[in-house]
Amino acid sequence: MNSFLEVAIETAQEAGAILVAEFSRPVNISYKGEVDLVTQADKRSEEAIVTRLRNHFPKHSIVAEEGGGQETDSPFRWHVDPLDGTTNFAHGYPCFAVSLGLEEAGEPIVGVIYQPLTGELFTAAKGEGAYLNQKKISVSRIETLATSLLCTGFPSNKRAQNPNIQYYSDFTLRSHGVRRDGSAAMDLASVACGRFEAFWEFGLRTWDAAAGIVLVREAGGTVTHFDGQPYRLGDREIMATNGLIHQEMKEVAMSISERIEYKAQHP
Ligand code: IPD
Ligand code: CA
Ligand code: CA
Repeated sequence: MNSFLEVAIETAQEAGAILVAEFSRPVNISYKGEVDLVTQADKRSEEAIVTRLRNHFPKHSIVAEEGGGQETDSPFRWHVDPLDGTTNFAHGYPCFAVSLGLEEAGEPIVGVIYQPLTGELFTAAKGEGAYLNQKKISVSRIETLATSLLCTGFPSNKRAQNPNIQYYSDFTLRSHGVRRDGSAAMDLASVACGRFEAFWEFGLRTWDAAAGIVLVREAGGTVTHFDGQPYRLGDREIMATNGLIHQEMKEVAMSISERIEYKAQHP
C-alpha cells in the first residue's frame, strides 16, 4: 500500500509543477462541450502522470480524464484527474488540484490530492488515516446543518437538466452558506480536513471523486447517495459529510427531491 501512496505522491507533485508552470503562461483553451474546457495544462499534466504510473505499474488499469489511460485485467485501477478545476485555471482563479485515486476491485484504497499553488498535499490510504502535509486530519465536529459550511459543484455538461440549483438554494437558506469553488477534489479534501461539513454533487466522474472518497472516509466522514444508499465508485450522485450532519442533510435532500417530483407531476 505504501509504495502505491509514495508513487501517487511523487506523480501528483510532478504534475503539480507542470500546472504551476502553465499557470503563468497565456492559457490555451479548447472546448470538449459548450462550457467544458480543456487546456494544454490538462494534457501535459495527464501525459506526465500516465507515463509515471505506467512505468511503476505497467499492469494496472488507468482511467484518465483526457483519454490517455489503458485498460488491463488487473484489479488495480488508477483514476486520474490531471487538472481538477480547469475552468478556474483558465480564468486565473487559483483553485485547482491534481487528483489521483487508486481502486482495488471497485474499492478506492489510495487518494492523493495536490493543490500546487498552496503546496497542500492531501494523502490517504485505506485503514491508515488521512493527512494534510503529513499531519493527520479529521472531519469537523459541527453537529447541526444550521451551523455548517457546505459546498457543491455543477458539472459543465447537461447543465439545464441538472437539478442542483434547487438543492443549492435550499441548503443555502438552511446553513452558514454553500461554497461553489469549482474543484470537486478540493471540495472533498476540504470536507476531510474539516473546512466544510459536507459536499454534494450530481454528475461526478470517477476521476473527480476516487481520491476524495478515500480522504473523507479515512478522516472519519461518511459518503453515500442522498437517500443514504452506499456510494460506489462510478455512481454519479454523491453526498460526503462529517457524519454528524449526514442524517439532517439526507432528510433535507429527500424533501427537496419529493418537491421536485411533485412539481414535475403538477406543472
Ligand atoms: C469539474 C470540477 C467541478 C465540478 C465538475 C467537474 P474539471 O472538473 O471538479 O468542481 O463541479 O463536475 O467536472 O472539469 O475541472 O476537471
Ligand atoms: Ca474534474
Ligand atoms: Ca479535469
